[in-house]
Amino acid sequence: MEKLLKQMTLEEKIGQTVQYSAGFATGPAGAKVSYDELTEKGAMGSMLNVYGAEKTNHYQHIAMEKSRLHIPILFGLDVIHGYRTTFPVPLGLASSWDTKLFEGVARTSGTEARADGLQWVFSPMVDIARDARWGRIVESAGEDPYLGSAIARAWVRGYQQGDLSKPDSVAVSVKHFAAYGAAIAGRDYNATDMSDITLRQVYLPAYHAAVEEGAATLMSSFNSINGVPATANPYTLTQILRKEWGFDGFVVSDWGAVAELLNHSIGPDGATVARKALEAGVDMDMEGNLYGTTIAAQVRSGVIPESVVDEACRRILRVKFAMGLFEHPYTQVTPPYEPTAAKREQARKVAGETIVLLKNDAVEGKGPLLPLKKDTTVALIGPLADSAKDMLGSWGALGEAKYAISLKQALQERLGDKLLYAKGTEILTGADAAVIRHVSFVDQGNNAGAKEEPAPDDAKTIAEAVEVAKKADVAILALGESADWMTGEASSRVHLTLPGKQEELLEAVAATGKPVVLILLTGRPSEIKWAGEHVPAIVEAWFPGMEGGHAVADVLFGDVNPSAKLTVSFPRAVGQEPLYYAQMPTGRPAGHADLSRLPANGLEKFLSRYIDEDNSALYPFGWGLSYTKFSYSQPTVSKGQISVAEAGHAGALTAAVDVRNTGSVAGTEVVQLYLRNTSASVEQPVRELKGFARVTLAPGESKHVEFPLGFDELSFYNVESKRVVEPTTYKVWVGGSSLASGETSFEVK
Ligand code: BGC
Repeated sequence: MEKLLKQMTLEEKIGQTVQYSAGFATGPAGAKVSYDELTEKGAMGSMLNVYGAEKTNHYQHIAMEKSRLHIPILFGLDVIHGYRTTFPVPLGLASSWDTKLFEGVARTSGTEARADGLQWVFSPMVDIARDARWGRIVESAGEDPYLGSAIARAWVRGYQQGDLSKPDSVAVSVKHFAAYGAAIAGRDYNATDMSDITLRQVYLPAYHAAVEEGAATLMSSFNSINGVPATANPYTLTQILRKEWGFDGFVVSDWGAVAELLNHSIGPDGATVARKALEAGVDMDMEGNLYGTTIAAQVRSGVIPESVVDEACRRILRVKFAMGLFEHPYTQVTPPYEPTAAKREQARKVAGETIVLLKNDAVEGKGPLLPLKKDTTVALIGPLADSAKDMLGSWGALGEAKYAISLKQALQERLGDKLLYAKGTEILTGADAAVIRHVSFVDQGNNAGAKEEPAPDDAKTIAEAVEVAKKADVAILALGESADWMTGEASSRVHLTLPGKQEELLEAVAATGKPVVLILLTGRPSEIKWAGEHVPAIVEAWFPGMEGGHAVADVLFGDVNPSAKLTVSFPRAVGQEPLYYAQMPTGRPAGHADLSRLPANGLEKFLSRYIDEDNSALYPFGWGLSYTKFSYSQPTVSKGQISVAEAGHAGALTAAVDVRNTGSVAGTEVVQLYLRNTSASVEQPVRELKGFARVTLAPGESKHVEFPLGFDELSFYNVESKRVVEPTTYKVWVGGSSLASGETSFEVK
């Protein structure tokens, strides 16, 4: 590689740092340039949004045969939850708490992408997301750094297989570095501002885990962090990423993020901000047009040392070499995709693991409403009931609605005549719909302009749905968000209630007295307080992917026993956001207060709480029900005491619990371990997840589950930003959610 670098002109080296999109735009439109010409000149090292072997080979032939040094192009795409075979959205996948499942999804997606000429996926997104208003929470693994880190590792293993040179491996781009998920007020692209301790303890661990797992590249984020844009941030990109973590891959900017530094007002012109980005450690300029046009002159005038360009180029070439692209630059053209039975089966099985049973009450003196009996007459109602496209979720890569199974189709297959259907209402109606569609990504270019949609007669369609419900044994309502234009990038919301007239529809159907199952198809936690109080069964299905309809039906009829658990807290009211279980303690705790210690003179008002709503989540992190019941023994620890020195090692002690299936069907439980450090130099959260295990149990069966605890679980960042273990007492809880009550403790001396 060094030999090649020596032969390169300054322009050719800079060329490696330039990336253009030649397909559709995923951001504001860039310059119009001839990609053939750029490739021939060696002035473009990478492309995004070009896929299909014929197309990628076209550019690759130019690069390999016509450019002076024959350096292959690296082709990247947003492969987020499947390439052609579409799996549930990432927030759904996370609800499985199943790292093997991620590896499988990444394997299938990576193999499909590679067969289509791509070697690089802009995945995984490992941003910790604690604010349900943020549209991109759907792309995340949720609110927790410990679980998020485990999932980040699994993605990297699945995509890269520990060996980038394998013909079906794809390089990852871990994004968005860093702390993009902490956008203030949940508004996309907004600034983030946090202490170094919070940055290191909550937001950075998942990126770090991915880097430790061998992630080939990272993507810098749009936001600023404590006043410094992440795309020109020497602290995160050089000090932490390169110096502390030893990362030797390359960093690509997010779409146009280098040029957007002008809007961040950290420089007077493009040349200055490009220099700042490059010197901070952004090696490749995605669709920004600035590296290619401003860096060479600055090197020649001595403003930028050439060694900075060399280093960026070296990092990019290193990945191309590691992938074996110089020897195998082309992709063999293969027959068009058809979802095979095996792929459909994988998609269905995966989706089944991601569907969370939030509530399942008994109705009319009988047992729990779900699962339904096979001969039930069902009234299927709601704007998402018959939408195959929404099943796919946002960022669906090349997933196609024609391959997706809607809930209506799946229930039709099972129930035939016993399925009745009414749409009831649209997701959003009238002027609201027009406005949101206007600003939405899907409508840009092809359907632009806020067209006034015909005012719908919701009263009539809701009344029709009510009549349909009356004819059935049970009403299933499929409600939620539009996958395309209400979730994902640039889709932050300030209202978390069910959009449009859906809540009205739900209440009207419930008023018939028929038992109601609410199926949520959403990309974020919703505000569903009324449903939580009045609807007997609630299922969070997220956007469950190509086989989504079948998977939801499998759960409804008990062919799959739900095992998924929330990785995000569901608020009672949007005003609680950002809401997460790992809150910091306060001097006036509300939920956990020992009121007996307070004088009985009305002091209770002066607690850290809202006067108009409870602090707690409606459905907390880790929550999810099953069709069976699990019982937990009292947790134990292998040692009541360890030394600080012992705590510096992995597995210094173990915590253990026996879990038993006390119900009558087999089931899988996600056993969760939480710790609280009760006395530290820096206050620590009231609970933190520090272990989990998926355990499958036959009826009556019991299993002993152990969790190793050591440095990773017991250390935290002190005021000097050093990771330390201090003498303290840890409380330990093990159970089936973040409310786990079985408790023990141990001391670090
Ligand atoms: C998104 C990234 C994505 C990139 C390329 C950006 O708008 O923030 O997540 O990888 O576009 O499509």
